[in-house]
Amino acid sequence: MNSALITGASSGIGAATALRLAADGWQVVLAGRDRTRLEALAERTGGESVAGDLTTDDGLRQVADAANGVDLLVHSAGIGWAGAFADMPPERIDELVELNLTVPMRLTRAVLPPRVAFVASVAVVGVRDEDVYSASKAGLRAFAASLRYRGIATTTVFPGAVRTPFFHGRDYRRRFPRMVEPREVADALVDAVVRGRAEVFVPGWLTAADRVHGALPGVFHRLARRFG
Ligand SMILES: NC(=O)c1ccc[n+]([C@@H]2O[C@H](COP(=O)([O-])OP(=O)(O)OC[C@H]3O[C@@H](n4cnc5c(N)ncnc54)[C@H](OP(=O)(O)O)[C@@H]3O)[C@@H](O)[C@H]2O)c1
Repeated sequence: MNSALITGASSGIGAATALRLAADGWQVVLAGRDRTRLEALAERTGGESVAGDLTTDDGLRQVADAANGVDLLVHSAGIGWAGAFADMPPERIDELVELNLTVPMRLTRAVLPPRVAFVASVAVVGVRDEDVYSASKAGLRAFAASLRYRGIATTTVFPGAVRTPFFHGRDYRRRFPRMVEPREVADALVDAVVRGRAEVFVPGWLTAADRVHGALPGVFHRLARRFG
């Protein structure tokens, strides 16, 4: 039986990914901080849970130990911050980069599984008022691409807006991309892992935005300024 360790499994995209993997017959190890939510999900999935703050040495070690030779490591734990860059407290910059970028690198290093999946974001193209968040997710994309040279199969998922507690306290006012459900992201992630796809955008049309950004960054920037 295939096995996977999922960080951020206590909520949102991580929880949906754990449910999808378990439904497909995978053995799951669920990592997060909230023990109650983790244990409830462990009961639904028949998996194990491991609670720990990944930004602490002890927490990261406990989660890495629980991995126990898994076939797949899914990095979903992450936090956001939106607002004018000059208003972002320096300690929030450190916290965000640590959880979103440093932790996936350290945990991958500690576990060294054959397959790794990253939950990045369409913000990799650079999003207004999400400067540091965008940079952290762009870093994940480069890390994933580099790991492939080491024979580690990686899949990076780039969701637009997803209906999860991530948005608590923040209104989502954009007309597009439409908000998707965490289950849609989980399905795209698992399907991409199974097919060995390196990158997948959710919803799929965001691929076009990424291509324009890559090929014509100046045009992309002007369009993004105009349409948000
Ligand atoms: N929602 C969106 O619109 C969206 C869009 C694009 C990308 N993403 C990315 O998707 C990923 C999952 O986000 P989500 O939307 O599912 O948000 P979420 O529901 O808020 O889940 C975040 C998860 O991260 C865990 N976490 C937070 N801080 C942690 C820490 N210090 N140590 C260990 N675990 C920690 C949380 O655990 P506890 O709850 O147990 O504390 C929770 O399980 C993130 O990387 C996010 O950047 C989200």
